[in-house]
Amino acid sequence: TKEIAIAIDGPAAAGKSTVAKIVAKQLSYVYIDTGAMYRALTLKALNQQLDLENEEQVIQLLKQTTIHFKHENEQQFVYLDEQDVTNDIRTQEVTHHVSIVSKHQKIREEMVRRQQQLAKNRGVVMDGRDIGTHVIPDAEVKIFLIASVGERAKRRHQENLEKGFSSNLDELKEEIERRDKIDSQREVSPLIKAADAMEMDTTSLTIQEVARRILDIVSEKI
Ligand code: C5P
Repeated sequence: TKEIAIAIDGPAAAGKSTVAKIVAKQLSYVYIDTGAMYRALTLKALNQQLDLENEEQVIQLLKQTTIHFKHENEQQFVYLDEQDVTNDIRTQEVTHHVSIVSKHQKIREEMVRRQQQLAKNRGVVMDGRDIGTHVIPDAEVKIFLIASVGERAKRRHQENLEKGFSSNLDELKEEIERRDKIDSQREVSPLIKAADAMEMDTTSLTIQEVARRILDIVSEKI
């Protein structure tokens, strides 16, 4: 069987990373969470109290920043300048600001360059907002996951509670809507379904069902 690239895009909290991890595990592929890269940069910029709207400041910061992944026991760890920030990048503070950082053209160009490097050997499942449109436009399988905002907020809420984080369902819903709006309306590679991506509405599907459907599509390609 040949190794392919699987691109999974979609709005916030649509289940992309959960599904991507299951699919990657089944295929023994590498899972790459591109959102984590934007989050890591945002964390660093916030710590340095940069003006996130200032593209020049943020790109200079990114150029002096290493972000990498480690995979251990089926878990993914995110490293920012050699420091484990796996949990730190999931705070409300980072979530609230990440869409500002990720709208800048120069930031996206550099991130896409790094992501393409990570995906060049295929055998990858990559999730994000622009994977099928810009990062791996020639991915053999492209999925665009959607779900109602109510369902997405509910899922994220449960996830938070399971992790022991405080969580407010209404606030989550607002935050998800706000982030989707910025991500969809930005000028540079906005969140949009690639013309050749397959859209899947997961509102009434379980994670396992979604993963199964994707694996069925993949099996026709490998
Ligand atoms: O996937 P996640 O929700 O962690 O992504 C966080 C944010 O990073 C998104 O809301 C978006 O602003 C940005 N992002 C992006 N392009 C990607 C992945 C994430 O702009 N490929």
